[in-house]
Amino acid sequence: MSKIFVTGGAGFIGSAFIRMILDEHPDAEIVNYDALTYAGNLENLRGVDERRHVFVKGDICDRSAVLAAMPEDSDAIFNFAAESHVDRSIDSADEFLRTNIIGTQVLLDAARIRNVGRFVQISTDEVMGSLPDESDNYFTEDSPLQPNSPYAASKAGAEFVVRAACETFGLDAVITRCGNNYGPRQFPEKLIPLMIANAMNDEPLPVYGDGRNVRDWIYVEDHCRAIWLAYEKGKSGEVYNVGARNERQNLDVVASILDTLGKPHSLITHVTDRLGHDRRYAIDPMKCEKELGWQPEVSWEDGLKKTIDWYRENQDWVDHVRNGAYREYYKAMYASRLESGR
Ligand code: NAD
Ligand code: TYD
Repeated sequence: MSKIFVTGGAGFIGSAFIRMILDEHPDAEIVNYDALTYAGNLENLRGVDERRHVFVKGDICDRSAVLAAMPEDSDAIFNFAAESHVDRSIDSADEFLRTNIIGTQVLLDAARIRNVGRFVQISTDEVMGSLPDESDNYFTEDSPLQPNSPYAASKAGAEFVVRAACETFGLDAVITRCGNNYGPRQFPEKLIPLMIANAMNDEPLPVYGDGRNVRDWIYVEDHCRAIWLAYEKGKSGEVYNVGARNERQNLDVVASILDTLGKPHSLITHVTDRLGHDRRYAIDPMKCEKELGWQPEVSWEDGLKKTIDWYRENQDWVDHVRNGAYREYYKAMYASRLESGR
């Protein structure tokens, strides 16, 4: 039997991971510890096998609550819990430093106290900064950490405290660094779900700057399989970059969404750029492919279609998350951008 402690399992990637593990590992039992911030949503877990999934509402910075929830001798902790949106971190960084760094340290301490087998830290390619346009440079595990946004800086800080726990106390830990995920149940503050939701409602699609920034997109289930393989086969102390060799410019992504939904390109609206906007992310996934035996299984075309179909078929989920608080967020983040344009 595997006893697994997942943090942030009510969010986009954490909930996809829990669904996958419960489906594919009949012996797995999961404690899912999540604070249910604006990004956490128990609807994301609708239909999972409740006999093998226990949900605990709690903050990863709350040491005694973490210790109370974490079973002794768990096989692994998968730390998905984080503040995850770059634009929000530009607006205010405090919560990012608290959750992403202090929260990770609390979990590392708890992992030692509770004798957990392995700590898996879900990190991001953004810790490595930005690559130049149209170069053949890629992020590798040896790329320097050069975070440019408060979000990326907080995730780099989290990597450092994981490394320190490994080096100082011999904690067994691996770190995965993935590119941009897309798929069902992603909160519509990130590019793809925001553009799908706006297009479905015939609202403007706000593209930052020239729209030529490049992201390396991966279907969420492919990322989740890599995380599991890093747990099963990764070497303690190592970092694994995860990417599907799928670089796309933002404008092309948005155009594909409009074409799939049969909506006009005239909905595309160029707006004021993000401060410090990273130009290009591109991952060399060779180590993950070779050492973990991982390959992506979902093509961009299939993944995007599956994603759009899911949002179309789950209008109730979309309406629920685009609630009053979301409307306030959207107004604060986009009203002046949409007015001033580029
Ligand atoms: P998300 O914002 O959808 O979900 C984050 C979850 O963490 C939510 O359920 C939220 O309630 C929970 N949470 C936040 N603060 C918490 C706290 N203090 N205590 C307990 N729970 C808390 O994020 P996501 O897109 O699912 O990302 C998951 C992880 O993967 C993050 O660590 C993120 O940095 C990393 N990551 C994301 C991407 C991406 O493209 N989304 C890419 C690479 C890495
Ligand atoms: P995002 O989904 O926020 O992910 P990240 O910044 O972590 O890569 O943004 C992806 C890209 O899309 C990024 O280049 C910023 C751009 N973007 C827009 O052009 N408009 C938007 O409304 C959003 C949310 C993002």
